[in-house]
Amino acid sequence: MNGPEDLTAPVLTIDGPGGAGKGTIGQLIALRLGWNYLDSGALYRVVGWIARQHGLDESNVDELVSLLSSTRIQSEPREGQDTRIVVNDYDLSDEIRDTRVGDMASRLARLGPIRAALLDCQKQARKAPGLVADGRDMGTVVFPDATLKIYLDASAEARAERRYKQLKNKGLSVNLARLLEEMQDRDRRDRERAESPLVAAEDAVHVDTTDLTIEQVIDEVLSLYRQL
Ligand code: DC
Repeated sequence: MNGPEDLTAPVLTIDGPGGAGKGTIGQLIALRLGWNYLDSGALYRVVGWIARQHGLDESNVDELVSLLSSTRIQSEPREGQDTRIVVNDYDLSDEIRDTRVGDMASRLARLGPIRAALLDCQKQARKAPGLVADGRDMGTVVFPDATLKIYLDASAEARAERRYKQLKNKGLSVNLARLLEEMQDRDRRDRERAESPLVAAEDAVHVDTTDLTIEQVIDEVLSLYRQL
């Protein structure tokens, strides 16, 4: 994710709450179009992971920003799996998916200096032939001039169930009821924060994935893109 951003490259943003299918859909669309892919949530998760490693939290913003400046994050989309995330040559793809890391990520994502520290690295992912960017504020803050903005949503129950299956498949021990509760807490925090809250861009197209298959969602998004 280095080098200047290419402002001529088209961007397709996919924002929405956790478990709506942003990662699965975003990666598959990027792979099919042969585009680059940005999993911005993974960057916030890396910050959450660093904080936990160093015993830091919301009260240590300066230390966290300084640690981030010496952190090299590489990523690569994968079909049917979460994005590969390599931090300073150490593969953290699985570790950052832990719900405790996600919770810390959501807490730290409320802080302006943390968001500012991640902004350049997100913008630099914009490269030819195009970028699919997924997160909470891709269409509102990071790429307001995106070619197509999608707001992906699903019922809280469907989202919790998907997360449950993903974590189970990784061999992590999870409890569905607790997961639903944690997801609702995290949604609330992401929606109610002052800095770049989770909100659909005014020009975003809403897609509810509760009763759709992955292929149906991909078809819908690609057909919206082709109609432009
Ligand atoms: O999408 P995710 O669950 O991996 O994201 C983890 C947390 O990161 C999420 O709770 C909020 C934060 N986040 C954010 O604030 N802005 C983004 N663009 C992406 C994620």
